Parts: sequence; C-alpha cells; structure tokens
Amino acid sequence: MDKIVVHGGRELSGTIKISGSKNSALPIIAATLLTREPCVLHRVPDLSDTNYMLQILRHLGADVERASGTVTVTAEKVESLAPYDVVRKMRASVCVLGPLLGRCKEANVSMPGGCVIGDRPIDLHLKGFEALGAAIRVEGGDVRVFAPKLTGAIINLRGKFGPTVLGTDNVMMAATLAEGITVIEGAASEPEVVDLADFLNKMGAKIEGAGTRRIIIEGVKELHGAEHTVIPDRIEAGTFLVAGAMCGNGVTIKRVDRDHVSAVTNALAAAGFQIQWAEDSITISPNGATKPLELVTEPYPGFPTDMQAQMCALLCMTDGISVITENVFPQRYMHVAELKRMGAHVQLEGATAIIQGVDRLFGAPVMASDLRASAALVLAGLKAEGRTEISRVYHIDRGYEHLDEKLIELGADIERVKA
Ligand code: UD1
Repeated sequence: MDKIVVHGGRELSGTIKISGSKNSALPIIAATLLTREPCVLHRVPDLSDTNYMLQILRHLGADVERASGTVTVTAEKVESLAPYDVVRKMRASVCVLGPLLGRCKEANVSMPGGCVIGDRPIDLHLKGFEALGAAIRVEGGDVRVFAPKLTGAIINLRGKFGPTVLGTDNVMMAATLAEGITVIEGAASEPEVVDLADFLNKMGAKIEGAGTRRIIIEGVKELHGAEHTVIPDRIEAGTFLVAGAMCGNGVTIKRVDRDHVSAVTNALAAAGFQIQWAEDSITISPNGATKPLELVTEPYPGFPTDMQAQMCALLCMTDGISVITENVFPQRYMHVAELKRMGAHVQLEGATAIIQGVDRLFGAPVMASDLRASAALVLAGLKAEGRTEISRVYHIDRGYEHLDEKLIELGADIERVKA
C-alpha cells in the first residue's frame, strides 16, 4: 500500500486550482441512470470514489466512457441489482437506489456497512421511498425497494442529526419520475444537492427549492440526456485554505465559490488570518497573532463536518484553548489519537474536542483512518518538525485529486512512496 512521506517546515506559497466536487459528482453520476439517453458530465474528478461509481454503473449495464474530466454515460438498459461485491467499497454507492427505483420501480442494493465516522444508517432514505409508495425488504444484508408505481407525497427527511444529504438526493431522484407532486421537508440544503437538482432539471425534471429546507418535485413521465459541469469542491478548497493558514505565506486557491466556503473563511478570519477575494479566487495569508476558536459542525451553511479534522490540525498549533463540537457525526474523531502521537494536546469529551494549542508538532508514523482524517494528518505533517509517514493513503485518493502534486506546486516537501 502506498504511503505519503512529508518533511515538515516548508513555507507554502503560490496558486493551485480546485477540482470538481466529489460529493456532487457521485449522485450526479448515479442520476444518469434515470434516462436511456447519453449524459455528458464535465469536471468529474479522477478519484477512486468516482471511479467506483462508474464501475457500479457499468455493472448495472450502462455504457461509460471517460476522457480526462469528461464522462459520458449511456444507460440504454439497466439492471436493478447491485450486489455486495460491487457496492461494498463505497458507502455513497447507496445513491443508486433512488434512480433505480425511479426508472425500474425496483432496486436491489447491498446495504452499506458502518464506517469509522459512525453508524451511517439509511433509515431516512427508506422512509422517503416508503412515502412514495415503495415496499422495503431488508434480507441477507441486501435492501430491496420496489413499487408498482411511485406517487408524490409530503415527506419529512429530518433526522436526529439533522437533514440527510444523500437521503435528500435519493428521494429527489426517485420522485422526478413519480406521479404527482412530492414535497421534501427538512431537506439538506448543501450546494451538492443544488448541483444535482440543476442537473436533473437539465434532464427535464421539475424541481424547485433546492438549496432550502423544502424541495418541491413535480413528477414527469421521462427524463432525457443532458450535459453538465460539476461545481468546484468546497471541501478541497477548505483543506487548501487550512494548509495556507498553517504553513502559507500567501496561498491562492482558484475556482472557488465564495458562498460555499464562507463558514470556513469566516472561521479562519476569526482565527486571525487575512482572506482576500478576487473573482473566483481566494488568497490566505498570515496576519500577525492567531486566536483559538470555538467551532460547532452543522449542516450547510454551518461549519462542515468534512472540515472538522483539518481545522482540528490547525487548532492543535494555535495558542490557547479551542473547542470543537461535532454535531453531524458525533464519533468522527479518529484523527485525534494520531495527532496526539505527533505531540498534540487534545481531550475528547463525547462529541467535543478540547484542544490546548502547542508550539510544535513532531513528525511520526501515523495511520489514515478515513478521508478527511487523512487530510488532517497531511496538514499536521506539513507543519511538524521532521518526517511524517502516513500509511493507508488510499483514503486520501478516495476524495482528493492529486493532493500531493498540488501541495508540491505550493512548495511542500511531500512524496508518495509506492509499496
Ligand atoms: C454526505 C457526504 C459526507 C458528509 C455528510 C454530512 C457525500 C457522498 N457524502 O454523507 O461527506 O460528511 O453528507 O455533510 O455526499 N443519518 C441518519 N439516517 C439516514 C441518513 C443519515 O440518521 O438515513 C444521519 C447520519 O448518521 C449523520 C447525519 O444523519 O449523523 C447526516 O448524514 P448524511 O447527511 O446522510 O450523510 P451522507 O449523505 O451519507
């Protein structure tokens, strides 16, 4: 298995460009199953997660071509069965359920397992499908969802931990081909949900309200092919902003949507960094003394859970006591034990991390546990004294397109060691 080796202490500067959003691309790729006509998607990031999703589509019978960032999918005929072998590698494969149910009125997909950031149930997805008239059977680790026909309904998708992003995506996709009007209350309002709705509307769907807590979908008889460019990845942008904050002397990040990253830029400004905007690019620079923060992760437009680990790495080296509360995935603290091995002082109390800033971190062999935790370890390694060796980097390859190469462009001393 590949490793990433970072020699800390280099100052970062220069410009990098953000790739297409992983979390937009995954459901948008799945949505191409809703039509028999070709769909052309641009700026699809080259990641193991997007490649798994394309493999799943091929397995379901779609014809898939990829030429650099452009993917063409033609799902003239589709199977409704996605077995464990095909879906187990990626939890987000669950988002083929909605389009298969919409198109075939049936979907058989192996249930996603838990993952290190928590249980990750799909009860809300299933509640939404049931409201549309589907029957659900869970047997032998598989979920079977089927309906003679789908009928629009009023559905509240808000769960104990807030709205569900992929649940909203799934129900929205199925409802595009339901008879009548569906209203999703308590919908997720993440930019990736809006991007999916934009794509579905280009395919002929009638969706209003994406980006708010209430989405209204008027069912149509069929959808047609469409062309779409995926939005820039706000979490990749946030990760590079934190790299710029920790080690930078003027790092510019191009192709960023200002609104999508405002929770992160506001937090970084409150921590004492200078943020300058020019059209779709943003520059982060040091601005004297830094300050500790109190952060709470929340659904969009709040501070994203997907930036919690990276921010934790920054706050480990910020003078004073910072407090992070993880409200979306309360157990999402696998990075803490590894950061402590590098000299960080962090105490966990339930879903809250209390961080006492230290002057220095020290390089160490550490292990990546999930995608964003891995990014946090790379960031900590960039700032630490000495050599940090991060194993299990396949987690990073799931969600960051050329992370190491982009960091080298900024001046980092980082290399990938092939196993
Ligand atoms: C998506 C993102 C992930 C991000 C998360 C929250 C993708 C591919 N992944 O994941 O990067 O961290 O949103 O912003 O877009 N829940 C239930 N029942 C359900 C579904 C979810 O209780 O049926 C809970 C979850 O356990 C969690 C919370 O709701 O506590 C939010 O999860 P959700 O928004 O569904 O996450 P994903 O869509 O899986």
